[in-house]
Amino acid sequence: MTERTLILIKPDGVARGLTGEVLRRVEAKGYRITALQQMQASTEQLAAHYAEHEGKPFYQPLVDFMLSGSVVAAIAEGDRVIEGFRSLAGSTEPTTAAPGTIRGDLGRDWGEKVQKNLVHGSDSPESAEREIGIWFG
Ligand code: RTP
Ligand code: MG
Repeated sequence: MTERTLILIKPDGVARGLTGEVLRRVEAKGYRITALQQMQASTEQLAAHYAEHEGKPFYQPLVDFMLSGSVVAAIAEGDRVIEGFRSLAGSTEPTTAAPGTIRGDLGRDWGEKVQKNLVHGSDSPESAEREIGIWFG
């Protein structure tokens, strides 16, 4: 099997009507979307997904943000898709994320305790398999 990654379009992206724009960029880059669902995240899914951030100052604002509306979960496949999608997404802070990236082109700071930055992408093959289990298990 080629490499897979878990992509989440966060509630800001869904609410702003950017689901299609994000998926368009993933497909235009050449990756294949092999699973797709819109859903309301549960607190259990978010606790598992963001376990590494528990205890950080942005943890509870992040969980509250992720519960604030629907998310779209997708699996994308292709050689080096993990690295490739994180490159498409851009750096965490949308204010300074490079133009040309999803966060750089479509995101901004909203003066909140958590960065609303439109998308999540797995950061390693181990994270990808773990996260796919959380959202598509
Ligand atoms: P992601 O996991 O969502 O793909 O993003 P990332 O690797 O770029 O960022 P990470 O460090 O894993 O943080 C997870 C998410 O928490 C929010 N965050 N807000 N100081 C802040 O306001 C802050 N720091 C992190 C962002 O939504 C980030 O994507
Ligand atoms: Mg991360």
